[in-house]
Amino acid sequence: MDIQATTQSVQNIPCDALVVSVAHTKDGLHLSQAAAAIDTALEGLLNTLYTEGEFKGKLGELATLHTQGKLHARRVLVVGLGASEKVTTQSIRHASAVAARHLQRTGVRQLGLALQWQSATISQAQSIQAQTEGALLGLYSFRQYQQKESRTGEKGVSHVQIVTENTHSTVEQAIQHGRALAEATNFARDLVNEPPNVLTPGELVNRASSMARQFGLDCEVFDRTKIAAMGMGGILGVTKGSAEPPYFIILRYRGAPQSKEPGVAFVGKGITFDTGGISLKPADRMDEMKGDMGGAAAVLGAMQAIAALKPTINITGIVPTCENMPSGTAYHPGDILRIMNGKTIEIVNTDAEGRLILADALSYASKEGYSPILDLATLTGGIVVALGNKMTGLFSNNEQLTSEIIAAGHSAGEKFWPMPLDDDYNEQIKSEIADVKQTGGRGASSVTAAKILEQFVSNVQWAHLDIAGTSYVDSVKPAQEKGATGVGVRTLVEFALHKAQ
Ligand code: BES
Ligand code: MN
Ligand code: ZN
Repeated sequence: MDIQATTQSVQNIPCDALVVSVAHTKDGLHLSQAAAAIDTALEGLLNTLYTEGEFKGKLGELATLHTQGKLHARRVLVVGLGASEKVTTQSIRHASAVAARHLQRTGVRQLGLALQWQSATISQAQSIQAQTEGALLGLYSFRQYQQKESRTGEKGVSHVQIVTENTHSTVEQAIQHGRALAEATNFARDLVNEPPNVLTPGELVNRASSMARQFGLDCEVFDRTKIAAMGMGGILGVTKGSAEPPYFIILRYRGAPQSKEPGVAFVGKGITFDTGGISLKPADRMDEMKGDMGGAAAVLGAMQAIAALKPTINITGIVPTCENMPSGTAYHPGDILRIMNGKTIEIVNTDAEGRLILADALSYASKEGYSPILDLATLTGGIVVALGNKMTGLFSNNEQLTSEIIAAGHSAGEKFWPMPLDDDYNEQIKSEIADVKQTGGRGASSVTAAKILEQFVSNVQWAHLDIAGTSYVDSVKPAQEKGATGVGVRTLVEFALHKAQ
């Protein structure tokens, strides 16, 4: 995708469609400079739309205007930004995504973006970054398995021009930054959307290592023999029912080579398909369990963007990956597994597999001395009940870290909600015969899952992000198609960039 900044006035930008954003106030539309120029060139058409009640400026609302030769753009797409006092970078990102997605479907090739919005809280650079990011996120589709669709897909948007006041290096940087974040998110989305017969643990290793090669990251992969030698009994237990071999992927980015600190670790759950194992899941919507490596995808995506943006900090991505299958060789309810840090877990439900592979990964990350450790996992149905698909559940042993993640999420346009890690919940995971019981029953299941993970983190800052509700949408949305959202990628990158400062 070719993306360029242009300082041409909006009337003179040659393109198939020009997107212009408009907010509203109590008294009418709030036109940006670009919108006002277009309104003038079209003899007040924008304001007419408003007074006729056809366009109210609501966030993501669209109206198409044919320019009939009055502008160099063939069409103008007006997109709403919502109430002017509430406009954030996320409003711009969202509006840009909705508009780009809409235009992609109507055959536009050359796209102009004039959604600039400056305020006390939004700089020109942030506005440009959000437009770039939004457009690339909105243009994303996963159609390579459809013969017809993938042919017409070639006719999609190929050139984007962003209207800016100047073309200083900050403008170029903002475009590059937005592009890196969106491309990394789309890389993560591809991993989640790939069918489970293609994206096996071995294929996840292939994708991770070729990305690492392309972006200059160090990549180390443990195979089953090494996993066994490390004492990673959680991964060995879960993978037992599968014909596919398990792997443990480590990607290292060293942006602060002189530092003696190991740095930050991002850990992602990489179950490439979760049938539930012997505690088999119901058939209904089991297909969505191809997305049970959404945490792994977020970590790999974040590592890609970090390698592209080069913050001065050391970051390591850790991904345990295997399948959870039922078979004659599968692990059983009743089994006792020994995790890498020596603790034993009494298995009661083979469908609670994520915490087992994460237990090994968190033990490993703790032993290596990483701090803070952030893990991302499509861990529990309970978090979907608690928070739905709008917010990710955030569990942390550190209040400062909690605020940093919420703030990073705010910059990224992703929402996190703090959840408890109170020790009273330990009662639910006591075992008579092992160090800990794998599950804590029906009540507060996302909390007891987090309490299990906590047992495998040594005395370091740690946060667990349960993305079971946010990593996959089961129906098409204005800003994105059905399937993977790529949640977590941009928050992790913002977190790393902020930590590096
Ligand atoms: N991968 C699932 C959690 C999940 C559910 C992700 C819905 C995305 C959407 C996880 O492995 C699981 O099965 N969790 C069980 C644990 C239970 C058996 C203790 C759950 O939360 O129901
Ligand atoms: Mn499961
Ligand atoms: Zn799972």
